[in-house]
Amino acid sequence: MNTATIKVHDATGTPRSSFPLDRWYVAAFSSDIRDKPVGRTLLNQKVVLFRTGNGQIAALEDRCCHRSLPLSCGTVEAEGVRCGYHGMLYAPSGQCLEIPGQERVPSKACVRPYHVAEKNQIVWIWMPSVAGAAPSEEPPVYSPHDDPRYRFGSGMYHYNSPWQLIHDNLLDLSHLGYVHLKTIGGDAHLHMNAAMKVTQDGDSVKVVRLMPGSTPPPTYRAAWPFGDKCDRWQEIVFRVSHLEIWTGAIEPGTDSIENPDRGGFHMRGFHGITPETETTCHYFWSMASNRHPERDDNFETVVEQTEFTFDEDRGVIEAQYRNMLQFGDRATWLDIHVDAGANRARRIVERLTTQSLA
Ligand code: FES
Ligand SMILES: [Fe+2]
Repeated sequence: MNTATIKVHDATGTPRSSFPLDRWYVAAFSSDIRDKPVGRTLLNQKVVLFRTGNGQIAALEDRCCHRSLPLSCGTVEAEGVRCGYHGMLYAPSGQCLEIPGQERVPSKACVRPYHVAEKNQIVWIWMPSVAGAAPSEEPPVYSPHDDPRYRFGSGMYHYNSPWQLIHDNLLDLSHLGYVHLKTIGGDAHLHMNAAMKVTQDGDSVKVVRLMPGSTPPPTYRAAWPFGDKCDRWQEIVFRVSHLEIWTGAIEPGTDSIENPDRGGFHMRGFHGITPETETTCHYFWSMASNRHPERDDNFETVVEQTEFTFDEDRGVIEAQYRNMLQFGDRATWLDIHVDAGANRARRIVERLTTQSLA
């Protein structure tokens, strides 16, 4: 069988994918892949990620072609990954380089490779609709990770919920006033009533909310010497594999919150959301922030409180999903005004998922 022409099919032979294919998804942060193989299920596909002796990132199907042990149970060597059962060594191309104790390595001793790219300290993996197909575009750029104005901290969650519940959460930050009162919340009334501008550009959705005259929430106060009030902004850009969320605030009267080069306190969040299965996902986040000269320790505070905030989101989203399962067909949804951005994103994902089957 020629693997280059395999498409994903269900048991009846009908092409099937639950996710948009032919695009880059986040597989890891660069710092996750060191001297051990890392096994992850991404879009229902078991993948092993590793870094060879020259620092090159590679990804293969996580299954030895000899007796199917996951290669992520093995070890990393300069040339590739060695299976932890009988020692077959695989190159980043997926070709077996060595079978211990056997002189000849058959050419069919190979496993399926994935295209991976490391950029801005993010490891991207191309998930094709046709096995082995090459990427048709460059991986996304995420410049805040390499911007000298910022430092960033990062983390990863495994979620027991479908990936789109996280999109919904991030595209609607009105929940800050109810869920995140200890960190980035603030006045719920102001959050719920802030004018929301939703625009779409191709497969990307942008949600902008401006909140002048806000009371600075705890994280903002800890990181920046705000007075009684600040002018806050939230800019959320959704793309299928990740969201960029730029939030922050300035002292009233010092700048415009519509100036693209505005000063003040910045929180730049990266949110890579990669389905694991239809009902679980990986959530790769980072938070980059600038430093106020009088608040040297602001960065640690921002990252710690960001993690606390995301723990709160996980509590909400996983409880939401458990409830959806328990209520089954009765868990229908009613739309309200805050859902405009999230609903657009859902329509995009639905369209691209259908296209992936064509
Ligand atoms: S299962 Fe991998 S070498 Fe035997
Ligand atoms: Fe949240």
